[in-house]
Amino acid sequence: MDKEAALQQVAAITQALEEVTKGLKQYATVIQESGGKSDLESIGQVSQSHTDLVSGVRTLNRASRGPVDMVFAQIEAVAYTGAVRALLEMGIFEKLPLDGTGLSADVLANELRVERDLLVRLMRVAVPELFAEPEPQIYSHTPYSMVYLHPGVRGAFKLMLGEYAPVFNKLSEFFKDSGWKSPQSETNNPYTFTHQTKGLTMWEHVKLDPDYFKIWNAAMNAQGIATSFAISIFPFKTELSKMETTEETVLVVDVGGGLGHATKQVKALCEDVKGRIILQDRPEVLEDITEELPEIEKMGHDFFTPNPVKGALIYYIRRCLHDWNDENCVLILKNIACSMTRSSRLLIAEIVLPATKADVEGAWMDLTMMTFTGKERTEQQWGDLLKDAGLRLEKTYGMPGTHYGVVEAYLT
Ligand SMILES: C[S@@+](CC[C@H](N)C(=O)[O-])C[C@H]1O[C@@H](n2cnc3c(N)ncnc32)[C@H](O)[C@@H]1O
Repeated sequence: MDKEAALQQVAAITQALEEVTKGLKQYATVIQESGGKSDLESIGQVSQSHTDLVSGVRTLNRASRGPVDMVFAQIEAVAYTGAVRALLEMGIFEKLPLDGTGLSADVLANELRVERDLLVRLMRVAVPELFAEPEPQIYSHTPYSMVYLHPGVRGAFKLMLGEYAPVFNKLSEFFKDSGWKSPQSETNNPYTFTHQTKGLTMWEHVKLDPDYFKIWNAAMNAQGIATSFAISIFPFKTELSKMETTEETVLVVDVGGGLGHATKQVKALCEDVKGRIILQDRPEVLEDITEELPEIEKMGHDFFTPNPVKGALIYYIRRCLHDWNDENCVLILKNIACSMTRSSRLLIAEIVLPATKADVEGAWMDLTMMTFTGKERTEQQWGDLLKDAGLRLEKTYGMPGTHYGVVEAYLT
């Protein structure tokens, strides 16, 4: 790099650093004022200022590394994730003591029955981000490695890498073969192409191996729990309290509610409002529920068929529609709409992408969904789907700092 270019880089780094310093001050102020509070506005402010800070750090990282090094950063990231996955399978994470004391490469290799040299080479890639190496080839846990011991986090990591990293690698091959357009077929999409599913959909394919399916479910559940803060974006209690209800009134039907994690929270948010709460999903999913769900009725239902509950006040559908293409979403929505009355409303709890400047999570989630024909949607796209299903979008509820939102709709 010549001197002029280097000076320009220094100027860019200086500017990015100033932004990070500003962002950090802002974050610290917000934490002082709103940290630890559980109201949505405070959670939103903390989340927004943290997102801004991380975005500033990304810009600083980019400015410091420069354009060429940023190309190689991608290879670095691929090698890193590959090494972490291999170390997970090797068993290092379980072997290292949880109190932070270290173990030598010799001991680890011996106890895990692996080649010492291979272990050292993998750890060389993983250590700077993940483990500590207080002395040469003595390794210990840090909070960044311990987090992989959480089954949900580990499941999500393994799922994303095992299932989707190969698919992302094959995206260009798939599109070159089948045309540059969003895939619409359940049995011919980047996922089925990469995994050679032989006519099975992704949903059928992941069930082939029961052990793998367990990891899959743990990961899905973990993601649901991670986004559970967003359930209260819709003011359930305030809205339902405005209605005259009896013990017989169906307050909420949670369509495609899975194991009922969100349903339980909805129930808590509707405390003191008289009425019923119903959890619907496919019968085989409901059979897997092991925990007690007090005062929640379970009902087997395929959401591609008309909803058997007529005239509920709220039909709630969370994190389901993003799995499906527009055509299937309209079918699902029509099968809810046909059971709604004028006093029913539909709530879609999903990511609502902004028209521009989506956050990193929204963007990668959308691309992941795309690999099997699903989609994250903007408010405009939600509105179009609703219209096609005979519904009208009334309002979109959101909160700063996240794209998770709730789209409210009524019969047209
Ligand atoms: C990502 S999970 C969301 C679960 C839950 N709503 C939540 O937010 O945690 C998608 C759910 O859609 C359900 N689902 C898929 N196909 C379905 C169908 N044909 N009828 C009913 N539910 C279905 C799945 O069983 C799963 O529970």
